[in-house]
Amino acid sequence: MRKKNFVLFGITMLSGGFHLSAEDTPIQKAMQYAHKAPKGETKIGEKIAEGTASEAEIAKTLELYVAAADCKPPKGDPASFKDRWAKLVAATRLVAEKKPEAVAAYKDAVACKACHNEHKEQKNK
Ligand code: HEC
Repeated sequence: MRKKNFVLFGITMLSGGFHLSAEDTPIQKAMQYAHKAPKGETKIGEKIAEGTASEAEIAKTLELYVAAADCKPPKGDPASFKDRWAKLVAATRLVAEKKPEAVAAYKDAVACKACHNEHKEQKNK
């Protein structure tokens, strides 16, 4: 009986987790990949800003950014979000092409707070 409950609990946890990630928007996926890192690890966005991201990391970041380009933000003016996001995509493209101005453009475009204040729902934070 105990064992059965434990197994059921495991299945619930699994499907619960899957459900959540399946519901993540492309914006959230991009944020989770490029702007979030496990404790002690450097975020990929930071690595891009430092010039230490690998080509694969840059390519994946660009892919996820592009995938979110037509998304509506949870908050604020969609047109303004689109502008900001397009800047971020363009800067990341420069990074992928190893342009000299790329890192400065990326740092400028990836302003977390400016975009979050306008377009991210503030949940008790
Ligand atoms: C161009 C706009 C923009 C920029 C720049 C930006 N974010 Fe976000 N971020 C968003 C939006 C919009 C959301 C909310 C997405 C949602 O809830 O659907 C978000 C959500 C998040 C989340 C939560 C993801 C989740 O799973 O719900 C994290 C973490 C995050 N951002 C980190 C960052 C960090 C760190 C930076 C800077 C390095 C950054 N973001 C830069 C727009 C931006």
